[in-house]
Amino acid sequence: MLLTSPLIKKYIYLYRYKLALGSLFVIATNLFILLIPRTFKYAVDAIRDYQMPALLHSVELILVYALLAGISRFFMRNILFSAGRYIEQDIRNDFFEQLLRLPQSYYQQMKAGDLLSRALHDMDHLRYLFGHVTMHVTNIISLYLFAVVSLATIYLPLTILAIIPFPLLFLATRYYSKIFFSQYKEVMEKMATITVSLQEIFSSISAIKAYTREEHVRERFVTANDGYVQSNLKLVKTSSMYHPFISLFTSLSAIIILWLGGILVIKGTMSLGSFVAFNGTLVFLIQPTIFIGWVVNLYQRSRASVARIEEVLYHPEIIENAPETDYSITELPGDITIRNLSYTYSGSSAEVLTDINIEIKSGQMVALIGEVGSGKSSLLQVMQRIYNPPRSTVFFDTNELYTIPLSTLYSETSYVSQEPIIFSGTIRENIAYYNPELPFSDIQAAAVFAYLEKDILSFDQGYDTIVGEHGITLSGGQKQRLAIARAIIKKPKVLFIDNALSSVDTETEEHILRNLLTLKSTMTTLIVAHRVSTLKHCDNIILMDQGKIVAQGTHEALLEKNNLYKVIYEKQKL
Ligand SMILES: Nc1ncnc2c1ncn2[C@@H]1O[C@H](COP(=O)(O)OP(=O)(O)O)[C@@H](O)[C@H]1O
Ligand SMILES: [Mg+2]
Repeated sequence: MLLTSPLIKKYIYLYRYKLALGSLFVIATNLFILLIPRTFKYAVDAIRDYQMPALLHSVELILVYALLAGISRFFMRNILFSAGRYIEQDIRNDFFEQLLRLPQSYYQQMKAGDLLSRALHDMDHLRYLFGHVTMHVTNIISLYLFAVVSLATIYLPLTILAIIPFPLLFLATRYYSKIFFSQYKEVMEKMATITVSLQEIFSSISAIKAYTREEHVRERFVTANDGYVQSNLKLVKTSSMYHPFISLFTSLSAIIILWLGGILVIKGTMSLGSFVAFNGTLVFLIQPTIFIGWVVNLYQRSRASVARIEEVLYHPEIIENAPETDYSITELPGDITIRNLSYTYSGSSAEVLTDINIEIKSGQMVALIGEVGSGKSSLLQVMQRIYNPPRSTVFFDTNELYTIPLSTLYSETSYVSQEPIIFSGTIRENIAYYNPELPFSDIQAAAVFAYLEKDILSFDQGYDTIVGEHGITLSGGQKQRLAIARAIIKKPKVLFIDNALSSVDTETEEHILRNLLTLKSTMTTLIVAHRVSTLKHCDNIILMDQGKIVAQGTHEALLEKNNLYKVIYEKQKL
């Protein structure tokens, strides 16, 4: 039942006045509308009796009712549909906020297309739920109530006869709308395959050409396009069958009432005016009966969408400020302590970090080394709460990680990840990503620091060169240096560098390292690196293997006492 869903409850409560007011206008509209056929009764009886003033009076009344119904209908649609739009906007904002809070692991499990479709299609269904379903449900209930009462006061036995065929109309619509929605879903799915086919062109045109896969790609597109049209044609067929059925039903119902009601009028049991009023009222019941079938299916469709959106919105694993957050912490001291840290990714059973203990003094440069998969990246990421480590395992000075506001954690640390991210935009924007207002002198200083300025000046547009998806492609080493410049411009207290100098030559690496060392008085650095040239500069080297620390010490100390380290060193000398 949707009314018990937390998301629905929240928004019905938040928008209770709008929804109630809109529903009141639905009821008012129906009242006015049904007064019109009732007034027809007096008009027709006046015509029968040749009463001109009574006829005019009825006509005036009908005009007033029609006007009032129109005004009321305007407010009903305007209030309810705009409430639907506002609710959709609010939920979509919530959804986006939640996307920002969800950990990276969530994005590794979920397909982007799936999340997109939740943010777009499912959200659209929610809008219908709040706007249209509210309107139709109130409409159906009030119309039925008013119309049946109105009909019964005109002539009860005929009312019962007239309503008998209605369940048939309801069942037919329900059956039809079920088919309609399933075929519509198929159309949307086919549309998605066309999108995928197009995306492939945008992302892999060079590979398609290089491997002469045009024929294959074309075939797939033609098949997808054909599937789309075929499923649309099915939809056309269904709807072509449904509409004649509705007209037939409406005509049949009119014929029956004309026939039976006609007999009653001829026999003198019913006045001509009542007969006209009866017909006029009954007409208003046909449309809501059709809508019952639609609404039942709209409701079911929305229920699936609400569930899909709630799955994201109420996902338990999010990165947000913990209850114990101490908002007075606005700066991070550079000392870091890691105590008995073990970590297992959610949804996985293997421990990736086991009993890690590390002490880092402010200003130190500490290296992490170890084979691929030994847990170096995982360690850097849990230290920044990109993933949530257990409590009381990571401390910045005496501040336990979860007491530090995320805003402080993010503004006081910088992270250069293994795969540098380049945003679509100019080099200048990419370096100043942290704060676009930064003066050019800072941007330039960061570029010089990261040994990137020479490269930048070799481009025609210099700092205004557009890079990323819509611009030139940087080399691996250039990307890494750009990421360093972006990290350093934040003036972080703690800098995490994950293997981010792997694609630059040793000489450049040496330069950058020397620059990093000049920041020692203000910055602690934790760097994942392999080259001995880097390691020599470090105050401490932590050697990891299968999630555990197997040795730590300076380059010289490790060379002396650790065989594994010696092997790495010997390999590098070759
Ligand atoms: N998001 C994740 N979910 C589950 N397992 C992961 C995730 N990221 C990394 N791992 C696993 O954790 C282990 C350590 O990986 P990682 O920290 O990337 O090692 P390294 O950086 O030393 O190469 C690997 O076995 C890897 O498969
Ligand atoms: Mg790694």
